[in-house]
Amino acid sequence: MPFSLDHVVFFGRTWDESMGMYALQAPDLGPLRILDCPGGPDGLVSEGLARGLDITAVDPQYDNSPDELERRGRREIHETVEAWIADPETGDNLERMRGYERLKIEALESFIDAFRSHPDRYVTGQLPSLPFEDDSFDLVLSGHLLFAYAARKHGGLMEKEAFDLEFHLASIRELLRVGREVRLFPTYAFFGPHRRHEFIEPVLEVVREEGHDADFLPSRWIQDEYTDFNDTLRIRKGTA
Ligand SMILES: C[S@@+](CC[C@H](N)C(=O)[O-])C[C@H]1O[C@@H](n2cnc3c(N)ncnc32)[C@H](O)[C@@H]1O
Repeated sequence: MPFSLDHVVFFGRTWDESMGMYALQAPDLGPLRILDCPGGPDGLVSEGLARGLDITAVDPQYDNSPDELERRGRREIHETVEAWIADPETGDNLERMRGYERLKIEALESFIDAFRSHPDRYVTGQLPSLPFEDDSFDLVLSGHLLFAYAARKHGGLMEKEAFDLEFHLASIRELLRVGREVRLFPTYAFFGPHRRHEFIEPVLEVVREEGHDADFLPSRWIQDEYTDFNDTLRIRKGTA
């Protein structure tokens, strides 16, 4: 059976992977108030704090204990990578998959350390309604939830439709309420012919109609062989 998921996995990228995904350079981040939504077990807050940045993450799983999150993270990384390896469409390069898995474990371990030592930087909350005031952040980074967890038929990873277009629009409006600029990754479809995710076009239409600027920036991080449409969607809040 081709690879798909039945829930959102607690699975996160390292700092370097994230900088590449979002087409960011660390020196540009200095003075910014940054939100990672959803943070999952990624390495952004841990490495960001080590670099002196003002960075916070939000995720519905953060009301769990560090031990529980570590157990869940290790289990989900293992199960997801094994499912990929078992899938003839994606599992052909074992060495690459194991390297990918190692980076996810590295991100998880660095997340767990920071989650224990800086609990105030990890806020429990979920889209499409976040527990922050308007304009609390200069930059909001949103990876591997929107678009990625749409149903397979739209280009996402989920077997069933848990996050439809309405959810995407409500969530992006919410990210723009709390932040001045939002960057979203990925923007490609995971299955079928290489193309943009089906929700990108309607999202672009709505955000532009609502007065925001939207464009694509080439991502430097490549997952599997998704080199086409490998861009981050940047939306800058309009002032109207
Ligand atoms: C695959 S992780 C992404 C982590 C990180 N942004 C990255 O790109 O590596 C997806 C996260 O989305 C979280 N999640 C699930 N439903 C959510 C919602 N409605 N709002 C915000 N986060 C959600 C999950 O708990 C999970 O940690």
